[in-house]
Amino acid sequence: MKITTDYFRKAKEKGEKITMLTAYDYTTASLIDEAGIESILVGDSLGNTILGYDSTIPVTMEDMIHHTKAVTRGAKNALVIADMPFMSYHVSVEQSCINAGRLIKEGGAAAVKLEGGKEFAETIKAIVRCQIPVCGHIGLTPQSINAFGGFKVQGKTAEAVKKLLEDAKALEEAGVFAAVVEGVPAKVGKMISESVSYPVIGIGAGKDCDGQVLVYQDMLGMYPDFKPKFVKHFALVGDVMKKAFKDYSDEVKNGTFPAEEHTYKIKDEEIEKLY
Ligand code: KIV
Repeated sequence: MKITTDYFRKAKEKGEKITMLTAYDYTTASLIDEAGIESILVGDSLGNTILGYDSTIPVTMEDMIHHTKAVTRGAKNALVIADMPFMSYHVSVEQSCINAGRLIKEGGAAAVKLEGGKEFAETIKAIVRCQIPVCGHIGLTPQSINAFGGFKVQGKTAEAVKKLLEDAKALEEAGVFAAVVEGVPAKVGKMISESVSYPVIGIGAGKDCDGQVLVYQDMLGMYPDFKPKFVKHFALVGDVMKKAFKDYSDEVKNGTFPAEEHTYKIKDEEIEKLY
């Protein structure tokens, strides 16, 4: 069944949790989709996970479109949400609409996500007016690391929680169909989820959000030395991959790969004709 933004709304009404994972390529998107995950986020986290930057700041619209295209080819049912990269929605409302439109028209995404609270309400309203569903993102918003002074849990004081609740409300009024809430205490994740009608998708925001999202490389244990508190390794795929790469190397070096069964054949008489 093709998942729509309406499905998100109904899931919250029914109290059913929503599942979301990131993906940045066709193969991973196909596997996630076949596993029945309801939504795939083409996160600008691809700056870290795919492109090797130390933040999401350098990610461009072209990067996002390129990877969104690959993911939408693999996602048959999951709702594909594409991230708007840093500075693609900060300069003007007009430019924000054009860039959101590119992720839909060129990338094939069904919705876009952008970071920020009430200061982006007008921008979100304008994108929604273009018939483009918008997912908000508040709390620890990675594009703001320079402003935050690093990756720090947000919403730890009464004042900060009040601001988050105001931001969540402003997103509702602006017309988001969902919002990611990242890096806040579990009690704050619960308060935000209960204060708005749209589904809140948590990452490091506790179990009481309406759904959860994780970066797929994190949950697959592909960076064994990097495990923030909110990440669970559902498998240690990094170890499996490294062992396979090492076994391949050993077998090529010692001549056991390729074996007979991996080898194409030609009749001896054809070879004899050459002499
Ligand atoms: O870019 C991303 O992957 C995200 C998730 C961490 C929510 O925004």
